[in-house]
Amino acid sequence: KPGLRVALLGCGVVGTEVVRLLNEQADDLAARVGAPLELAGIAVRRPDRVRAGIDPGLLTTDAQTLVTRDDVDIVIEVIGGIEPARTLMLEAMKTGKSVITANKALLAEDGATLFAAAREYGADLYYEASVAGAIPLLRPLRESLVGDHVHRVLGIVNGTTNYVLDQMDTHGAGFNEALEEAQALGYAEADPTADVEGFDAAAKAAILAQLAFHTPVTAADVHREGITEVSAADVAGAQGMDCVVKLLAICERIPSRDGRNGRGVSVRVYPAMIPRSHPLASVREAYNAVFVEAESAGSLMFYGAGAGGAPTASAILGDLVAVARNVVGGTPGPVEVTYAKLPVLPMGET
Ligand code: HSE
Repeated sequence: KPGLRVALLGCGVVGTEVVRLLNEQADDLAARVGAPLELAGIAVRRPDRVRAGIDPGLLTTDAQTLVTRDDVDIVIEVIGGIEPARTLMLEAMKTGKSVITANKALLAEDGATLFAAAREYGADLYYEASVAGAIPLLRPLRESLVGDHVHRVLGIVNGTTNYVLDQMDTHGAGFNEALEEAQALGYAEADPTADVEGFDAAAKAAILAQLAFHTPVTAADVHREGITEVSAADVAGAQGMDCVVKLLAICERIPSRDGRNGRGVSVRVYPAMIPRSHPLASVREAYNAVFVEAESAGSLMFYGAGAGGAPTASAILGDLVAVARNVVGGTPGPVEVTYAKLPVLPMGET
């Protein structure tokens, strides 16, 4: 079988791990897909930066040309941010490529444009890595649970803030010191404000709510509070009540008496006190945990590594195999449908 050619956009903490896994697991991946996967090129801003294990001959600063090249079948985007990521992904789909992205900020701000392009051009758009790192969560919502009726999705979806709060709780660490550690471990966003102010968790909550409730939700709809106001005294106060402070993301369908879909949805992110006996209280370091409550399935718990290079790359490789199989088989994957036009209710109206 001819090989499938993969273009990678971005080569930071996650991108480097994607390349490593592609190289190390080449034979297994080829067997699973039914065709070899080859890297066609890697778009970076600074090709002069030394990257261990990366063939310098693959590097280019011309991402635009890379995504439109005829010999590229699949594009993986790990640049992050709104532009140029959006334009590059749209160009890729327009020229017949399927796209895999970890870009929660873009999906939460303007996912509608990406999904419309995927539909129009018959491209796959997979984004498992955008929420909760290695934890398979979006595919279960998108596929396994799509026949059920989800009431609530709730949990810890930002590894950096969980790491900071955990270090404050267990080691009495200072906020800034713990944040620097989280950055050094490769958990934080390029600008960690996105983590500590709750923007990252809010983007993920929007993605989860949209998938769970089949209704459009953007980051702007999410009530958001970060952890910058959480002090050592707050953490100690919680300890005194046998509680721990966690940054929670909560996506809920708000019930009404007349109609199954309910009155609307509520999506919110804020630090909350959790009793130590609750499973979420034992989520340490940069781990994430999410509960999904559905009508027939009941309560499901998803737990695992929520941030970091290798865990995020694992989710991307999973998407890559799925998309590559779809390309080989000529059958596209699922397309997002947001048929339920439920209002996103502001805090206080729920
Ligand atoms: N900065 C994010 C986090 C990375 O800490 O969870 C994973 O999305």
